[in-house]
Amino acid sequence: MPVTFDPSRPLKISPSILSADFARLGEEVRAIEEQGCDWVHVDVMDGHYVPNITIGPDVVAALRPHCQTVMDVHLMISPADPYLEAFANAGSDIITVHAEAGAHLDRSLQYIRSLGCKAGVALNPSTPESTIQYVLDKVDLVLVMTVNPGFGGQKFIESQVQKMANIRKMIGDRPIWLEIDGGVTPDTAPACRAAGVDAMVAGSAVFKGGTPEHYGRNIAAIKAACG
Ligand code: DX5
Ligand code: ZN
Repeated sequence: MPVTFDPSRPLKISPSILSADFARLGEEVRAIEEQGCDWVHVDVMDGHYVPNITIGPDVVAALRPHCQTVMDVHLMISPADPYLEAFANAGSDIITVHAEAGAHLDRSLQYIRSLGCKAGVALNPSTPESTIQYVLDKVDLVLVMTVNPGFGGQKFIESQVQKMANIRKMIGDRPIWLEIDGGVTPDTAPACRAAGVDAMVAGSAVFKGGTPEHYGRNIAAIKAACG
């Protein structure tokens, strides 16, 4: 589906299906969409770039018919380039690669756009914002990791709020989403929104409780906390 940038920058919640019931993924995606999520975040891990293995392009393709909104696909894999076409063909709308995961970030971003997807770049907590200074014209989304990637349910790293504000300034009025990922809760989200974040990934904070009603309340609680 075509995903377009809204200059009024409404807050988007992108639940990470890493915290969903993997035995019922299609149902879980439908539930979070019915309960008001904006995007669906898919965490892809390879057991090499990060110390965990999750899902691949076949699962993204299987989920595509269950997903009416935006498939926000976060690749924690290295190398990423050989798999970009498969993730695009699987129906990804946004594909995000890690700046640290390959030698040629500029090339990877151009490649993602050439496949008809929005191009995202993720920065680990220790990676400075200057890393993306020269690729901003090739980027549709910047993802600030607020935990070290690999697992759900980790503690939010406070130092990243300053990085968000710095990147917000670098972005200026370019049509680039600023997204965060990791440890997002109604307690940690407001400072991030104040720093200029457009999209928040939340796994455990959305899926806790385990029923669609909980998901709806959990999404609403993050949005309400941000005002
Ligand atoms: C971390 C993943 C995150 C994570 C978020 O590697 O990219 O998306 O699952 O989970 P919570 O919200 O539980 O920190
Ligand atoms: Zn993620």
